[in-house]
Amino acid sequence: MHWNASALRQAFLGYFQDKGHLLLPSDSLVPKDPSLLFTSAGMVQFKPYFLGAAQPPAPRVTTVQKCLRTTDIESVGDLSHLTFFEMLGNFSFGDYFKREAILFAWEFLTERLKVDTDRLQFTVFQDDDEAFTIWHREVGIPENRIWRLGEKTNFWPANAITEGPNGPCGPCSEIFYDTRIDTGCNNPDCGPACDCGRWLEIWNLVFMQYERSEENGKPKLTPLPKQNIDTGMGLERTAAVLMGLESPFETDVFEPIVRRIEQIAGVRYKQGEPTDTAIRLIADHIRAATFTIADGVIPQNEGRGYVLRRIIRRAILRGQRVLGIEQPFFADLVPAVVDALGEQYPELAQRQDYITTTLRYEEQRFRHTVQAGLARLEEMLTDAETQQTRTLAGERVFTLYDTFGFPVELTREIAAERGIAVDMQGFERAMAAQRQRAREASGISEKLFVQTGAALSELAQHAPPTAFVGYEQLACEAQVVGLVRGGDLIPEAHAGETVEIVLNRTPFYAESGGQVGDTGVIEWQGGRAQVLDTQKANDYYFHHARILEGALRLGETVQAQVDAERRLDIQRNHTATHLLHAALRQVLGTHVAQAGSLVAPDRLRFDFTHPRAVTPDELERIESLVNEKLLQALEVRVYPDVPIDEARRRGAMMLFGEKYGARVRMVEIPGFSLELCGGTHLRSTVEAGLFKIVHEGSVAAGVRRIEALTGRALYQWLREREHAVRAVAERMQTPVPELPAAVERLQRQLDALQTELEQLKQRAASQAVENLTPIDVDGVPVVAQAVQGVDAKSLGAVADRLIQRGVGVAALGTAHDGKVALVVKVAPEWVQKGLHAGNLIRQIAQAVGGSGGGRPDFAQAGGKHPERLADALAQTPQLVAQQLRG
Ligand code: ALA
Repeated sequence: MHWNASALRQAFLGYFQDKGHLLLPSDSLVPKDPSLLFTSAGMVQFKPYFLGAAQPPAPRVTTVQKCLRTTDIESVGDLSHLTFFEMLGNFSFGDYFKREAILFAWEFLTERLKVDTDRLQFTVFQDDDEAFTIWHREVGIPENRIWRLGEKTNFWPANAITEGPNGPCGPCSEIFYDTRIDTGCNNPDCGPACDCGRWLEIWNLVFMQYERSEENGKPKLTPLPKQNIDTGMGLERTAAVLMGLESPFETDVFEPIVRRIEQIAGVRYKQGEPTDTAIRLIADHIRAATFTIADGVIPQNEGRGYVLRRIIRRAILRGQRVLGIEQPFFADLVPAVVDALGEQYPELAQRQDYITTTLRYEEQRFRHTVQAGLARLEEMLTDAETQQTRTLAGERVFTLYDTFGFPVELTREIAAERGIAVDMQGFERAMAAQRQRAREASGISEKLFVQTGAALSELAQHAPPTAFVGYEQLACEAQVVGLVRGGDLIPEAHAGETVEIVLNRTPFYAESGGQVGDTGVIEWQGGRAQVLDTQKANDYYFHHARILEGALRLGETVQAQVDAERRLDIQRNHTATHLLHAALRQVLGTHVAQAGSLVAPDRLRFDFTHPRAVTPDELERIESLVNEKLLQALEVRVYPDVPIDEARRRGAMMLFGEKYGARVRMVEIPGFSLELCGGTHLRSTVEAGLFKIVHEGSVAAGVRRIEALTGRALYQWLREREHAVRAVAERMQTPVPELPAAVERLQRQLDALQTELEQLKQRAASQAVENLTPIDVDGVPVVAQAVQGVDAKSLGAVADRLIQRGVGVAALGTAHDGKVALVVKVAPEWVQKGLHAGNLIRQIAQAVGGSGGGRPDFAQAGGKHPERLADALAQTPQLVAQQLRG
């Protein structure tokens, strides 16, 4: 058999399909699970099945999953680490367990792949005698080739028992391939546990049988309702093994990319370091960037977009610095990625233009900032040299990294060339603080995950999913089927408590598709709760509510009632969002794709792809078009259950990267807009009232944002404006239509007065000059005095005039509002003789509690102690004398 990665992919999926597994498509790199930034393993999309919170489509499933892991990003560039990779997996949801999983793996490796069995070794979790016995007795592996290891390597997720995260987990068994590379490791016990580089992990079999949770801060493992299997085989690594290659970078899923990089850089791969590392890093990063953008992530300064941006920047810098690529190049690698992987992942070709544009734009912008970054670094290095420190402060290096995307290793490298070190501890501290901020700002809410916690799987065992009746009704009777507090199910909740209420049916819309969750009240015999928000997880609706009166018990019959007025406001904005989307495509072009949306009661926000700012003229056209459609009172038609193919045929707008089921809900505004949408809408567009765009701006490279108002919020907005305008008109005693002309007149008067004032100041400055007489310091005419009645700016003018009149050093200060402003000027001939304004001012400023510096001929500073101004300036003659002596 002639192997390559594509053949391995087919062989794996084929083998497990033969064994009764259902082949499912790869999930998006952006997972539904809100606690994760990226899909990092095949099991991510199956978490609800393991927990028993949702029904799998089949008991046995197999996939090849796109994965992104950035935990080891600093190692990328070596022979084995990747950020983006494909994971082959077979899964069992309560069907087969350990024995079959191990026997399948063995059979596949030996009979289908024909891997040399002498080169395989195995690990099991320390006390997992069962797995040990299966490998030893049933498969026939000698005991000395089965290793018992701890939870760091042989529990999934790693260290989950002690460190978490909460969720499904279990012991695992890993299969290692002996590369027989001589790493110079002299450990007589060298085996899979050794990190010398000889042992390559190719497959991980996870025996998913616990749910981890925390009780009083202590970890607790509860057996899952059923025993499951989750496995992951690294496609690229295993392909390299089968093909007898040094690394994944020579396999078919990398080769066209590496070749293209060679061409662009004019450097061949495998010619030695450091270019090999750079080529591998760029090849890895372009795959990661291409796939991430294809799944809808945009380079940004937070969350997923921040990870993407870092990946792109690292690759570009490596290309520039190590491979010497002068021109923008990163986007030119996209066709090679499509070449290598487009057949397996059609989304790449479909979105190729968009991916290319996004990368090209990001690279252009980055190249500008790099220039600025290099200049900044240069300044920092010069500062360090003049201050004679041999270390750059970690905080400043971090700013460079954070603002300019400068990898810290690059800063270290450039600094080291000048014999200057980087304070790495300070850098790490600043980085940790940033991570915290990014987490807080990323909008990735772990809220629901924490609140529902283990309750979700327990709930699934006794309660059916919530029936949503809120498309037709805003109130209904329902039963309480779950009460959750702090992640635990509780039997009852009392006045004053905030809990999650789960009902068997509800009119409350749960946040999704950009539309915010409903609020309202839940009432029952003897009690009342206020619903503050509604969220859903696996088809259970969680009403986040505060009990106002009485006690609410499981099983209670309640009346659930949505705040109807607020819901109507939301619907206005949702229908208007669809109109806006269609109008944008009509006015700007069909490249406009939705990149984010918020539908709230008080406004709507719509992010979309478009390469430049929308012009005022275009905005007006978009706005009028939407209003035209509102005023036509078009009926909003909802098709609740349409086959996806039909929707596609009719050209319904779909969100990129979104996974749709076989049947979908479609919302149509006849003749204008057709979208797949699960949200709630107006019956007629006219109910929106009026539509107004109040903001247009940029959110990221190639992504614009529009904010707009409708209905009541817009009326309020117009009223506020009207009041303001009316107040101005009254104050100016001018009718509203004439206001612009009146303001223009006023502005001209103001300008004239300003000019007059400047002249007065100048005159005051010249007068001040008359009163200042130089003293002689070793032949230099020096003026050092406080000047009253001039501002900081005029102080400079006074100093200039003194220099023009032959003064050598003018050191002036003025006090205003409890602050001090200082200026020092030195005439050119005295600069030549060694006088330095910047150094003079530094010492003068210190005496008034300030700091400052500047050029040899001119310097400015501030201070906080006006009462010390005279004394501070009085030092000047002495300082000048010192400087002259050198
Ligand atoms: N989920 C397991 C892993 O990623 C298979 O290693």
